Amino acid sequence: MAIVTKKNRAESNTNYAQGGIAAVTSKEDSFELHVRDTLAAGAGLCNEAVVRQIVSEGPARIAELIELGMNFSERDDPANGRRELDLGKEGGHSKRRILHAKDVTGREIERALLNAIAQQPNIEIFENHLAIDLITSQKLGYVGANRCLGAYVFDKKSGNVETFAAPVTLLATGGCGKVYLYTTNPDIATGDGVAMAYRAGAAVADMEFIQFHPTCLFHPKAKSFLVSEAVRGEGGVLKTVEGREFMDEYHPLKSLAPRDIVARAIDTEMKKSGADCVFLDITHKPAKFIIERFPNIYQTCLGYGMDITREPIPVVPAAHYQCGGVVTNVDGETEIAGLYAVGEVACTGLHGANRLASNSLLEAIVCAHRAAETAFRTPHSAFPTPEIPAWQSGDAHNPDEMVVVSHNWDEIRRLMWDYVGIVRTNKRLQRAQARLANLQLEIQEYYWDFIVNSDLLELRNIATVAELIVASALQRPESRGLNYNLDYPAANPEWAQRDTVLRKSS
Ligand code: SIN
Repeated sequence: MAIVTKKNRAESNTNYAQGGIAAVTSKEDSFELHVRDTLAAGAGLCNEAVVRQIVSEGPARIAELIELGMNFSERDDPANGRRELDLGKEGGHSKRRILHAKDVTGREIERALLNAIAQQPNIEIFENHLAIDLITSQKLGYVGANRCLGAYVFDKKSGNVETFAAPVTLLATGGCGKVYLYTTNPDIATGDGVAMAYRAGAAVADMEFIQFHPTCLFHPKAKSFLVSEAVRGEGGVLKTVEGREFMDEYHPLKSLAPRDIVARAIDTEMKKSGADCVFLDITHKPAKFIIERFPNIYQTCLGYGMDITREPIPVVPAAHYQCGGVVTNVDGETEIAGLYAVGEVACTGLHGANRLASNSLLEAIVCAHRAAETAFRTPHSAFPTPEIPAWQSGDAHNPDEMVVVSHNWDEIRRLMWDYVGIVRTNKRLQRAQARLANLQLEIQEYYWDFIVNSDLLELRNIATVAELIVASALQRPESRGLNYNLDYPAANPEWAQRDTVLRKSS
């Protein structure tokens, strides 16, 4: 078994997850309540059967993670004098149900999983290897149902393109935050999985639903640093630069309102006042509590000269999570035989039009388990593997001017932020579409003429994903969940159950 990863083995969106994993583990909670909260956040677009399945399988997967060595934060239970899981609260949840490892949950998950993998001699990890494209039977000219046969992969160290032939290929490539100028995501989040699957002919759905996290740290030297929603869950309050609390004007749950509402409220307040940010204030809580519960946020902010136990944290909204993605069932199966997708890259129907906080890692652990069981059960290796030709570079030569690549990277990210952000209009979307079409022509020309490198490959992917987001947003004539369009300020009941599905025309 080969794991191909474009940087080092721990570098992923998961690694930076602060909040945690939503799962029903307490007596005060129930599957029904978790399902209800998920459906409410999803604004009429969740697949209820999928929601029920994922929510109900969460506790078993959590138990498995603990068995693999994952350390969740615990607290004393004064009622019976025992230790129990410390459950956090985040926006949209009616109960405390977020399992976390202080504020570095993702890092702890990665540690436990990589440790477990290290004990498995049949798993090989290929670091600094970036997948370029999936190899499919249709691309090779075979008729009949499309089947994934593996991937062409760029070895960043040697500069060679290698063929990874495989009866089963699973995409776990995360999301596409880097399509936007401001994001909470690390640099790896360039939508590679969605772009590759789309090029291979798989269906991609609901890409208009990009979640903007309300509270990314605002500091000239801080790049993509998230200030977890758990800070608001523990009492943090949003204020304007003048110190005015404003969330009560937008939602009865105030600072803990659903994420789309908080992000739009901050956007409105910033536009009204012309300020560069708003503030998140948790100074009313004891310093000891803040430092113990949020050691990573506390230390990081301290590194930038801010003591969050004494002063409010400057924050801005930033692109955070892709709710749509490659269409899969709850077992991670895509429309292409042998191709699976799990986690943020996939669209299972769990999130609908807006993801409930901390449901993403829940989806990842449940669907990854189901995908593995399904893949082992399915006789993929029984199909004859056609001869796969080696990667052809043709007449491509070394790029003479990388400025074209860096310019197009910047242009896409800025135009997506300005025209396809938290609040959209048809005119802005059309403008974005026209510019992206031009950029695509230039990128395609560059791709065919020059020997590939990682910046170019990632640029090609963010351009494709940007086009998919814009095309999906233009198809949906309503405001629902995360898709807020001033030309259609209300939800349209006719679109309540409709996904925007895109497929590449061949
Ligand atoms: C956070 O910690 O605020 C992020 C949690 C999430 O996106 O689910």
